[in-house]
Amino acid sequence: MSNQEFQVLPGPSSVLFARSIAKQLNCEMVDMEFKEFTDGENYFRLISEVVGKRVLVIQSLYPPVDHHLMQLIFISKKLSEEGAFVYAICPYLGYSRQHKEYLTGEVMSLKTLGQLLAFSGVKHMITLDIHNVEGLGLIKFPAFSPSAIPTLAEYVKNCEDVSNSIIVSPDLGSSARAEAFAELVGRPYLIFEKERDRFTGELKMKFTSSNLSGSKAYIVDDMISTGGTIVKAAKVLSSLGVKEMTAVCVHAIMVADAANRIKAAGVSSIIASNTIPTEFSKVDVSKVIADHIKLLG
Ligand code: R5P
Repeated sequence: MSNQEFQVLPGPSSVLFARSIAKQLNCEMVDMEFKEFTDGENYFRLISEVVGKRVLVIQSLYPPVDHHLMQLIFISKKLSEEGAFVYAICPYLGYSRQHKEYLTGEVMSLKTLGQLLAFSGVKHMITLDIHNVEGLGLIKFPAFSPSAIPTLAEYVKNCEDVSNSIIVSPDLGSSARAEAFAELVGRPYLIFEKERDRFTGELKMKFTSSNLSGSKAYIVDDMISTGGTIVKAAKVLSSLGVKEMTAVCVHAIMVADAANRIKAAGVSSIIASNTIPTEFSKVDVSKVIADHIKLLG
């Protein structure tokens, strides 16, 4: 498969992201027709000839996750039936948080997702900042998760005044990301410990008391979903004397009133990448994926 050019198929959830990747790789777009019926079902028709072609299907799996997943399955299945070598490029990979059976009887959602993609003929998958890299081991074909953290750090370093700031990881799971971010912006970092009650969802945060009086904090996480984690971290930071807070994340899922809750907790801005298109997508990270694809040869 090496030395053969890629083609890009822009999935309905990631049209702009796909255009950007196609431009950077100087690829042709696959011709197709996509529509949704009034009852919400998806329709996909492949128009291009794809036999023997390497096709990058760009489709982020953000809410409505099942709908976007079904679109990816239809597209991949048809492409593979027609003889293409299918790469699923999911800037945000929904269902990746459940990579273990935390409570007996729970489904390992990520494992099932990997099986569905394999069934659909996907031969290679790339996402960004998967929730836990251990999860990649559940996918039985080559799967990669380069990080967008350096790109976010570069943005913050160039566009913000980071003097007198501290970088904060709201939990142990994001500590490596926060540490890398802190090193790139040249600031110290703090790591909190978060415990989530597996039945009620209630969050508790443990931290070492320090005097952060008058400083600014950047709370760095892989994703913001309900905003509960950022709100909890912001309350702790306020109690330690922090005067200004910004939340930085790769994937801004922002369900329900997450943005308002975060604002009400004293966080003045949210800086996110464009893996999910939102009003907070200030940083284009398509180059991280394009650069990874260039290495595939
Ligand atoms: C979990 O450990 C993740 O890294 C995020 O902290 C979490 O998924 C964010 O979710 P929420 O915004 O609902 O707290």
